[in-house]
Amino acid sequence: MTGPWRRIVLVGFMGSGKTEVGGALGRELGWAFEDLDAAVEERAGASVPEIFRTRGEQVFRELEGTLGDELLEGEGIVLATGGGWPCRPDRIDRLDEGSLSVWLRVSVEGAVARVHAQGGGRPLLAVDDPTKRARELLDERERWYERARWHVDGEAGTPDEVARRIADRLRTDPERPLRD
Ligand code: S3P
Repeated sequence: MTGPWRRIVLVGFMGSGKTEVGGALGRELGWAFEDLDAAVEERAGASVPEIFRTRGEQVFRELEGTLGDELLEGEGIVLATGGGWPCRPDRIDRLDEGSLSVWLRVSVEGAVARVHAQGGGRPLLAVDDPTKRARELLDERERWYERARWHVDGEAGTPDEVARRIADRLRTDPERPLRD
């Protein structure tokens, strides 16, 4: 039903809907859903903003890398990564052949609006001008996100609708790269 894929790895900017789409996609496929930020928080016993504040971004990135590797050993899972996870050379390019990477594309305005609606919680956007900061970060990061095998418009409908589009495509044409 899902071709050669044993796990789906969602990547994309903050506010692109990875967690919501990932949960819905897990339900569609009957697969477990894992959220990398939640796994980091559980392991650290602290929220992401607390980790940034008290231990620094570098410690967060190390935890994110370790927990990401652990979760990627699972099969039949949808994994929502954090927005910074794929932005290193040892990430998307080193996924094994059973992992389908999917980039949920989002506009700067859409990302900032969603993060705001969720009440913040993103230390990197807790600045005077989050839109400017988000534009700078997205400019730096797009070259990493682009490495994902599938590119999906994360703003074309509700998270359930985006998940259904991904699931439909997995059922009908799982192997061909997707540029949505
Ligand atoms: C980050 C994104 C966040 C979280 C942390 C850092 C980033 O996850 O991992 O605040 O560097 O883009 P979401 O993409 O789920 O917001």
